[in-house]
Order: sequence, then C-alpha cells, then structure tokens
Amino acid sequence: MGTQSEREPEQGQEATRAGKMNPRRIAVLTSGGDAPGMNAAIRAVVRMADVAGIEVMGVQRGYEGLIYGNFKPLPSRAVANIIQHGGTILETSRSPLFQSEAGRTRALENLRYRRVHALVVIGGEGTLAGATAFAHETDMNVMFIPASIDNDIPGTDYSIGFDTAVNTALEAIDRIRDTAFAADRLFFVEVMGRDSGFIALSVAVGGGAEAVVVPEIKFDVEALCRRIEESQHRGKRCSIIVVSEGPTTGGAFSIATAVKQRLGIEARIVVLGHIQRGGAPTARDRLLASRLGIAAVRGIAEGKPPSLVGEEHGEVTLVPLGEVAGKQRRLDPSLIELVSTLSM
Ligand code: F6P
Repeated sequence: MGTQSEREPEQGQEATRAGKMNPRRIAVLTSGGDAPGMNAAIRAVVRMADVAGIEVMGVQRGYEGLIYGNFKPLPSRAVANIIQHGGTILETSRSPLFQSEAGRTRALENLRYRRVHALVVIGGEGTLAGATAFAHETDMNVMFIPASIDNDIPGTDYSIGFDTAVNTALEAIDRIRDTAFAADRLFFVEVMGRDSGFIALSVAVGGGAEAVVVPEIKFDVEALCRRIEESQHRGKRCSIIVVSEGPTTGGAFSIATAVKQRLGIEARIVVLGHIQRGGAPTARDRLLASRLGIAAVRGIAEGKPPSLVGEEHGEVTLVPLGEVAGKQRRLDPSLIELVSTLSM
C-alpha cells in the first residue's frame, strides 16, 4: 500500500472524479445505533481495501466525525482481533447536524481535504437517509452497508446485528420460560424496535410466545385479553407475550397494566433493552458483515454507482441508493399468523 504523501496533491471535485475510477483512499464510518457485527464489517472493508491497494481512513463517531474532522488511518493490523466483539471500534453517534445541508457540506470539505475518494457507511435506516442525501448532493461515491438490530432496512433481507439480537433475546426468553412454567405465571417481555416489529416477531416465533405486539399493527387490548383467557381455559398455566418497545405499542408496562385492569391477572415484566445490542456477533452476522464489507470495496474499485450493499435470497446485491430511498420493509403477515397457530 503506497503512502499518500508520495502522490501529487489533488483538490476538490477533480480529485473525487479521478478517484471514482481509480480510488486510492476511502473512508469508513459506523453511525446510528450500534449493532453486533459492525466490527466484522469494518475489518472486511479494511482487509479488502488492502488487497486492492486502497488506503483506508477510519472516521470516529459516525457522521459527527466527518463534520468535525475526526479521521485516523486504518491499516490492516488495526482491525486485528475485533471480529468477535460487539459495539464498534470506530464508535458511533446519531448526528442531527448531518441532517442539514450545511453539515453535509462541511463533511464533504473534510473528505476532500484528506483526499478521500469514496465513503463506506455502516448503519441503520437513519444513516441510510444521510448517505442517500450525501451521495445525491455530491460526486463522492458512497457504499452503504446495512447494520441494525431492527432489520427494517429496505433493499436487503437481513441487516448486520439482527441475528445476534434475536438470539440474545431468545436466550433470555428460554430462561424466563423456566420460571414462568415453574410458577404458573404470565410474563410480558419487551424487546427493542420502537418503529419496527421484526425482532419481536422472530423472538415470538422462536420463543413459542402466546402473542406478539408490534408497532406495525394497531394494538387491541380486548383481543389480547380474550386470547389470554382462552389459553387459560385450554389449561395453559404460563404464557409469554412479546412486546416491541416504544410509543406506538406503549411498551410492556402499560400493556400489562391494561390487562390487569381487565382480567385481574398480576403479570411479571422483563425489559431486555440494550442487552440485545451488545455481545459477540453470531456466526451468521460475522459472515454477512464479511461478505458485505468485501462487496462494498469491490463496488468502489469497480466504479459502481452509490449503492446499498445487501443480501437478497442469499446473494450479495448492490442496489442503487436512489432505488431504496423512502421505501419500507414490511413484516411478513404469515409469521404473525404462525404465532397464534402454534401457541395452542
Ligand atoms: O435502531 C436500533 C435500536 O436499538 C432500536 O431497536 C431502538 O428502538 C433504538 O435503537 C434505541 O436507541 P438508543 O440506543 O439511542 O436509545
């Protein structure tokens, strides 16, 4: 890998245009809510870039680092021994400043000043919106790698971190089930996903829950109470109900209170919270992150347009950012059906 100081300085748009065809230096950042597997993605980006003779700059704390100029070189050795760790070595933030054109202009100036030719952005839905706006307004190439435990990003079947979060929540539910069964109790387990129910639904199916409450479907307390009563009449003595967090569902506490008012049943409540965001990524998340990281760098090296690098039907795909903008991933209604069918 050559050093930048040996090269002729390049300025402004000319540098970016030249770099699109022959990128010499790229930057990578993680933004928004962290997700297990982000480190594996950073590692794949750095290692693949090294193979392609491209230098990598790491940006600290997501888009905020772009705006405030927090860059550091990321040589291949800097990503040793990180694949197994949750969180992100680059740290992350939610950046209101990057939502403004002024913030994005500042970010572009910082990238140009450091002769960066392309950007790999790793994050969730909000991060995707920022990456799309940035790619639209500038001639900087941007590859977006979906990483969010929520799995609500369009253009990919899975986002990095989802599998780990679901497995972490399932492990907790299995433990809760032991005590729920032993003491004949009703439990409400609150999982993450304030705007989307992908985690809740997968956890409900995998954990054998009695019912699931997600933000996408209007909550009906009477229907839930009927369901609890029916299951008790069938002789079921313990039940687990999975609830997505957030203002749309009201969360596990408010639902448990509403059920107590109607049925007089004293339930127990467990809020899993940020436990789901930490911990070692599963094999599936490490593999996904590694594949997407490599494909992002290849996309840049081959001069592909700004894209979301995802996985559809088991294949790695590059979808132009303009095609995913404003789209939403929908829950699979057959899985909701499955929860009630199987919880007899
Ligand atoms: O987007 C990921 C996520 O973990 C959501 O599931 C959750 O609603 C939100 O982030 C929590 O955000 P914060 O960590 O900023 O409270």
